[in-house]
Amino acid sequence: MPGGVSSFFRLIEAAWVLVRHDALIPREVEPMLPPSLRTAGRAVRVFSGREARKGRPGQRLARAFEELGPAAIKLGQLLSTRADVFGLEFADDLGHLKDRLPAFPIEVARAEVERALDRPVESLFLSFEPAIAAASLAQAHPAVLKDGRKVAVKVLRPGVEQRVATDLAAFRLAASLAYRFSEEARRLEMIEFTDTVARSLELELDLRLEAAACSELGEVMAKDGYMAAPAVVWEGVARRVMVTEWIQGSPLSAPGTIEQPGFDRHALADNIVRAFLTQALDHGVFHADLHEGNLFAAPPDKLYAVDFGIVGRLGPGERRFLAEILWGFLQRDYRRVAQVHFDAGYVPARHSVEAFAQALRAVGEPVAGRKATDVSMGRLLGLLFEITAVFDMHLRPELVLLQKTMASVEGVARRIDPDHDIWSAAKPVVERWIARELSPIAQARRLADQGSRIIDGLARWAETPVSPPVIVAETRSGAGLWTGLALGLSVGALAIAVLALMHAR
Ligand SMILES: Nc1ncnc2c1ncn2[C@@H]1O[C@H](COP(=O)(O)OP(=O)(O)O)[C@@H](O)[C@H]1O
Ligand SMILES: [Mg+2]
Repeated sequence: MPGGVSSFFRLIEAAWVLVRHDALIPREVEPMLPPSLRTAGRAVRVFSGREARKGRPGQRLARAFEELGPAAIKLGQLLSTRADVFGLEFADDLGHLKDRLPAFPIEVARAEVERALDRPVESLFLSFEPAIAAASLAQAHPAVLKDGRKVAVKVLRPGVEQRVATDLAAFRLAASLAYRFSEEARRLEMIEFTDTVARSLELELDLRLEAAACSELGEVMAKDGYMAAPAVVWEGVARRVMVTEWIQGSPLSAPGTIEQPGFDRHALADNIVRAFLTQALDHGVFHADLHEGNLFAAPPDKLYAVDFGIVGRLGPGERRFLAEILWGFLQRDYRRVAQVHFDAGYVPARHSVEAFAQALRAVGEPVAGRKATDVSMGRLLGLLFEITAVFDMHLRPELVLLQKTMASVEGVARRIDPDHDIWSAAKPVVERWIARELSPIAQARRLADQGSRIIDGLARWAETPVSPPVIVAETRSGAGLWTGLALGLSVGALAIAVLALMHAR
């Protein structure tokens, strides 16, 4: 079974990279592990390299994943959305993993475009320039169409599908081994998680789907005007190639962009917060990769987004759930918030609603009545999700993606305008949405009247010290995960080694 053998070797290779970065059984989690694993951890640490000494475990794991390539990078990005399992700092460190590589040559890109579109480059483009950005899956080239329009051409990296397939097979092997040997791996649904990684990569490896997302979100954004997407040039779209109109703006990732004259930083920061909230809450679909590298601005406050590889979707049920918990927290009605979680089936029925309400109070009360100036909605939601780990809450990935994107949007807004007040930016959107979601038409006006009071309440209710119960939840589940993972990996590796030896005879 050559596939199995190559997955096996890839797995060993991956384990080796993790060991070199001291990210397989990190020294920091060692004290929480059972004695046998502690010994194993100390043994493999002998092989760790110089990189292993620098940084926190999340940072080391991020470096290891960067080295392992596209599938591992995606795995890391998805793991970074699980602050409920790993804790905020670890998830955050993992979330900073970089996806930049040297570009492949322009001749290769031209050949890829010709093969994908089945026509000579000259038949579509007047000019085709060297790549301006290159990542593990694709790179982007500026070009000019025959009709004179400037465009961006995104081309998948040659052979990337094969590479991703090999790595995914290796992950599946690791997950199924861990599943066999570890209760914890089963609880964490590692096989399902691997499937999520695979699905997400499948979507990103088909640029026709990204083009569709770009066009869909472009329509959604046009309704409110807080943000815009480039037009798709459909004749230039195939599985491995995608052409969109060039954005006439300055990249937010370039230093000094918003210091240029003519920019209204306050309005720009408002726009990104409102763009994200209207997409998610009003339209149920959002750009889920909103960092500076994917954002452009033009004076005074025009915002553009590119890169629609990751799109989040919230169904009506999830949107209502969010409205309910926000409203319940504002009222400090923890019993109600708890009930909503049980009704939605997010917390298993064997737990007690009252005990859950008590835990929610531990999140809500310390922040109630505090000042809003420096408060993050995303972090608040993250804290809520964390405490729910104690109650075996199964969070829908969409909600986690929402929370993650919210945190990233807030970060961008604060970097654009350091004094930015997220809550007042969110006010018009959240007001409208809570009124619409939670009230029959008869109640709508009353709620609208209360709107400003709601938002003031929201504002006061923010500011977030990490409360002790959250930390307990964090370390407990974090240690459990590592035990599970490490156990699964080491026992699994041993088992395979024995099997391989037996078959070799
Ligand atoms: N329509 C566009 N106009 C201008 N620049 C673009 C456009 N599309 C992509 N780019 C540039 O190419 C870079 C990479 O494209 P992106 O879609 O973000 O790919 P990746 O998935 O590799 O991040 C972007 O960060 C941006 O600088
Ligand atoms: Mg990008």
